[in-house]
Amino acid sequence: MFAVGFGRMSCRICQASTEQVLDLGESPPANWLKSAPDEVQESFPLVLEWCSNCGNVQLRDALEPEVLYRDYVYVTPRSSMLQAHYDYLLSYLLADGYLSSESFVLEPGSNIGYFLEHIRNRVGRVLGVDPAERIAALANESGVPTISDFFNRSVAQQITREHGLADVVVARHCLAHNPSPHEMLDAASLALKDDGFLVIENAYVLNTIENTEFDQIYHEHMFYYSIRSMNTLLGLHGMRLVDVLMSLVHGGSIIFIAQKGLDGPTRSTVHAYEPRESQYLNREAFAAFASRTREVKDRLRELVDKLTGEGKSISTYGATAKGNTLLNYVGINASQIPFCVDSTTMKHGKILPGSNIEVISEDDARASPPDYYLLTAWNYQDEIVRKVRDSGNYRSRFIVPIPFVQIV
Ligand code: TYD
Repeated sequence: MFAVGFGRMSCRICQASTEQVLDLGESPPANWLKSAPDEVQESFPLVLEWCSNCGNVQLRDALEPEVLYRDYVYVTPRSSMLQAHYDYLLSYLLADGYLSSESFVLEPGSNIGYFLEHIRNRVGRVLGVDPAERIAALANESGVPTISDFFNRSVAQQITREHGLADVVVARHCLAHNPSPHEMLDAASLALKDDGFLVIENAYVLNTIENTEFDQIYHEHMFYYSIRSMNTLLGLHGMRLVDVLMSLVHGGSIIFIAQKGLDGPTRSTVHAYEPRESQYLNREAFAAFASRTREVKDRLRELVDKLTGEGKSISTYGATAKGNTLLNYVGINASQIPFCVDSTTMKHGKILPGSNIEVISEDDARASPPDYYLLTAWNYQDEIVRKVRDSGNYRSRFIVPIPFVQIV
């Protein structure tokens, strides 16, 4: 009842046949945090496929968005790294004429409105859309106007009737999160002025593969975009890429800037990564990725067994979705690691899916720090290590699992 196209072996973008590149076994959805350890959860396969025709990498088995997002607990963390990223993105868009102080900016998947809150004094108007009711309510409470709904064609039409056409639609880390990016792109096109810009940010598949970020693979991440696959997708909706830029957030992200119309100017940035994409997105590269993934699993398993065998205490840091893929794939659970530390109030007291590890607050962790932190939020490594040291804890060491297992 939750599945959309299970066992599918054709590309959701171009319909060509796909081939399997990685199988991480079965896992409950990564953000299904439980209220009690004995709560029963369903697990679903995590199988990655590649389409050699358009370069798209995707999950074989996709789950219904309704199931994944209505009762969502993911809240964008307050992070200096993210704020620096928002500044970088905003300055780039303003300096290059994609955005102005008059612009109406519409953001599907706006979560608690952290990005819109950050930019709203530099643009004309902002409006968020997010399907998670509790999360959208938090955004509205903090003064970022947010509609609680899925961003689809009818919601886009409603927005244009009530708020006018947008100058810029910003879809940050959400176009990979829906089995039908076609619906979202049609909606974006309906909501956008003819000369407006669509800005799409996502994890970049080259970073995911090259940095062995297999933990980025979970049911919410249905697509792993390359420039080639994004170009194909946009083309099917009468749009084209006009610019591309890279960012370090979330283990390496890509920002696609697109416009309506198949013909028109395109910057050289769009073609700059073509050689790397053809060199690193092929059968051999995927086989090497799968083998490095197994290597991380074996090393981490050995290390956790060794440390706990010596009586050392370990907590994970970051109740991240990616952390749940990691823990469940490696086979680590509460018998070895009882606690996970996280700054998100909504996650405190909850139980991680699969591993049954309990989430505690950063204050609780400060009161009795473990010997080791397994950094499941490795994308915020500098910030978290600094925070722990600034709290006076010079004792706990950090296990960083990705791109390879190391103690820092
Ligand atoms: P994120 O990396 O966005 O994870 P994912 O997309 O894999 O779910 O989430 C970061 C998590 O780390 C989030 O739950 C908040 C937590 N976090 C802390 O606990 N402390 C911190 O200092 C930071 C920056 C994040």
